[in-house]
Amino acid sequence: MIQKAFASFLFVTICGLSVALCQVQPAVLTIQADKKVSNVSPTLYGLMTEEINYSYDGGLYAEMVRNRTFRARRRDVPYWLLVEDGNAAAKMEIDQQTGPSEALNSSLRLEVSSADAENQAGVLNGGYWGIPLKPNTTYKGSFYAKADSDALGAVTIKLLADADDKTAAVATVPGLTTAWKQYRFSLKTGAIQASSRNHLVLTVGHAGTLWLNLVSLFPPTYHDRDNGNRIDLMEKLAAMHPAFLRFPGGNYLEGDHISERYEWKKTIGPLVDRPTHPSPWRYNSSDGLGLLEFLEWCEDLKMQPVLAVYAGYSMQQEHVNPGSDLDPYVQDALDELEYVTGGADTKWGAVRVQNGHPEPFALTYVEIGNEDFFDRSGSYDGRYEQFYKAIKAKYPNLQIIATTPVKSMRPDVIDDHYYRRATEFFHDTTHYDKTDRSGPKIFVGEWATREGAPTPNFGAALGDAAWMTGMERNSDLIVMSAYAPLLVNVNPGGMQWETDLIGYDALRSYGSPSYYAQVMFSHYLGDETPDSQLVGAGPKLFYSVTQVTRKKRLYLKLVNAASTTQSVNIKFPGATLANTGKLVLLKAGSTQATNTIDEPNKIVPVETTLRNVANDLHYTAPAYSIQVLQIDER
Ligand code: AHR
Repeated sequence: MIQKAFASFLFVTICGLSVALCQVQPAVLTIQADKKVSNVSPTLYGLMTEEINYSYDGGLYAEMVRNRTFRARRRDVPYWLLVEDGNAAAKMEIDQQTGPSEALNSSLRLEVSSADAENQAGVLNGGYWGIPLKPNTTYKGSFYAKADSDALGAVTIKLLADADDKTAAVATVPGLTTAWKQYRFSLKTGAIQASSRNHLVLTVGHAGTLWLNLVSLFPPTYHDRDNGNRIDLMEKLAAMHPAFLRFPGGNYLEGDHISERYEWKKTIGPLVDRPTHPSPWRYNSSDGLGLLEFLEWCEDLKMQPVLAVYAGYSMQQEHVNPGSDLDPYVQDALDELEYVTGGADTKWGAVRVQNGHPEPFALTYVEIGNEDFFDRSGSYDGRYEQFYKAIKAKYPNLQIIATTPVKSMRPDVIDDHYYRRATEFFHDTTHYDKTDRSGPKIFVGEWATREGAPTPNFGAALGDAAWMTGMERNSDLIVMSAYAPLLVNVNPGGMQWETDLIGYDALRSYGSPSYYAQVMFSHYLGDETPDSQLVGAGPKLFYSVTQVTRKKRLYLKLVNAASTTQSVNIKFPGATLANTGKLVLLKAGSTQATNTIDEPNKIVPVETTLRNVANDLHYTAPAYSIQVLQIDER
């Protein structure tokens, strides 16, 4: 195969001879479908995820109540307000002395000094930048509460429009008792307009004191799961055909401090037994989307889990020394693997069964830590080796991913991360062409062109697509890859990291141009790369060819990152092609063009029929374009 660098050299040489020539001469791409070069990894494209940018709370996890456990990190009661209708009077504060469980051992105390049926007192929650409501929809809610006396009476729960307090739905739960108890309710809307400008109100019509915790409200969820995920976002992820999910981080796995690491055992079982924890992205995580929910997310989208285990390093340069200090962390990882993969006859497998999932999950990859090249103590070699030996002893078939090269041994897989500008990707699409195939496999576990905020613009999509052509060509080596970060809440204050694949607010969501490039690359992917040669192309034309051997179908991806068109004569020596094929085209008028929450469909792939596909196909790639040509052999 003629490498890109050589093709560029030819271009420069020809253009040097004659500017006119380089503008009119089409490039020539020769594809030899009968000559296989390498295999394509069936798990090449997947998802990377963590709690960042309100990815779960205020994002994928469909909970609508913000700070439902009153544990947000400020001193007042963030996201909750007092309600005093008419001449009702009340005050509220956090009570550290009582809560519904050992994990949630504090609560909100509401002291109502005056209230009656017409003058109610209580609390209000505005959700994650609004409470999104749709017409004729049932919302399932619950809360834990107790009162200072049985006389307090019923609690009224209402969904009200922000503009005029017009009631969208109402429910009541009967009188509280003096013991902590969970109450459930449902709220059904009528013929309202879909909107996120609503709030939730809980009130009583009697003086007295009540304590509240875990106030929860869910819309219908994907696959109708209790404690489940937003339907629109899951559908967007499903369209990416992801083969795996890398979780739970990212920095979120490590935490700023060891005490703030992702402790999986605190994220399983009933929500009331999950204490929540501070995440390194500056907000508290509800842990409602906990370990089992990650696994069920995998199940729902038919992805394999790529499980990262905490490995004794947290981001403020705190580490655990290899040896006996690290043993408890290694044991914790072994317990986690047993929870994921063990049968009902194992200790942690039985806990998973009790948590509602009898079937074990299949697992191939485990990652030891995250970005441990940041650990200045130099402890990663020892930590990786200790985890590796313990895990392989019990699970010899697991592939164990290192987050940085390890000097003392050869890891199964290395996780490489790239956050770059488009031009850096353009110049490095051959990055893995020469990598030693006898070394560790590669997982490009985080990568993105960082141009555009909150989501990538078309220039970024071009950088991404160019990079993906290089990954496809090298996917005998690159077993997996994932764009990061995946999700961003686009409301002010929602984003901690610029350039994220999918944006949303409480009600709506959209895919960025980069998202659509991912959808196209993942959907149209063969199982092998045939031999190919590109001659005479401009320096900003990138391509990859893969083919589905079983179907005799070929996918040619062309990325024209230039501001001018690029013609290509495509030759298929020895192949007899069907007369029609398919073209999927994503293009924009500028690198700065993009999609937004208000204009979500400005740049989307357009599918057309490719006619007169002969053995000598002439195609002109528009300026700033990403395209897949699907071509069948007869
Ligand atoms: O994707 C955002 C962050 O980038 C991840 O948490 C971390 O692994 C990387 O530095």
